[in-house]
Amino acid sequence: MFSTKGGVGKSTVTSNFGSVMNLENRKVVSMDCDPNNTLKYHYGLSQNYSEGHALLGLNNSPISSCVHQLSTGEKIIPFGNLTEVELVAYEKKLLEDPYFLKKQIASLQLKDNEILLLDAPSGSSIFTQQVLNAANISVLVMLPDAASYLTLERSLKLINKHCVGKDYIGTMFLVNQVHRNFELNSDVFDMLQYQLQNHIIVEIHQDQAVAESLANGMNILKYAPQSLATEDFIDAAQTLESYLLGN
Ligand SMILES: Nc1ncnc2c1ncn2[C@@H]1O[C@H](COP(=O)(O)OP(=O)(O)OP(=O)(O)O)[C@@H](O)[C@H]1O
Ligand SMILES: [Mg+2]
Repeated sequence: MFSTKGGVGKSTVTSNFGSVMNLENRKVVSMDCDPNNTLKYHYGLSQNYSEGHALLGLNNSPISSCVHQLSTGEKIIPFGNLTEVELVAYEKKLLEDPYFLKKQIASLQLKDNEILLLDAPSGSSIFTQQVLNAANISVLVMLPDAASYLTLERSLKLINKHCVGKDYIGTMFLVNQVHRNFELNSDVFDMLQYQLQNHIIVEIHQDQAVAESLANGMNILKYAPQSLATEDFIDAAQTLESYLLGN
């Protein structure tokens, strides 16, 4: 999940896709690749929970020790807390090796029935580049507003630069917080559909239950199973799953 613009819903999408895609015989691992380390809140982990993969990576230690398993079988890998000095050192390490994150992921030795969801920070920093270098599918999260539309070209350039190689399947576009009664929302959505012809575009409606579920430290499927956004997340995650499986 990535976006050049901040606050569009990447972490929300990551955690809700995770809960839809996590099944009895297929497990989801969600990894926070954002130094802000906020994905953990979507899983009800507290502010005091400081473990994460970044410090282990910085010290060349295996990251499997920071995988946190939930009662549902879902797993989360937080970014962890780094001091400013550690963060600068980690950035330097990532700059030296563009595939560092990809190698860290490989070291997890995920099973065939496990899906890894990567939550990128906003922007085009080295952290986002590492996520794109490691991804098989990138989900570009946008809002149906002018600001998101204006960053589209930059995002496409980033994808073209970093999402290469035979393992790359493609890009899916997710428009979040859609409010069809607002004319601008519909206009931007229609423009995106026109510009991204032949691409998969999914939408999630704006729904107060999404924000409330985060405040309660749980995903929306659990918090408000009957909500409009829950329905959208199920549809969108199933579309992603079909894309991943080549259907
Ligand atoms: N469909 C939605 N309806 C209503 N609120 C939403 C929806 N999607 C996300 N939000 C709210 O928007 C806010 C930002 O979401 P989130 O933190 O997931 O964005 P982000 O892209 O990960 O941000 P950042 O760039 O800071 O990492 C949160 O308060 C979240 O609850
Ligand atoms: Mg986020």
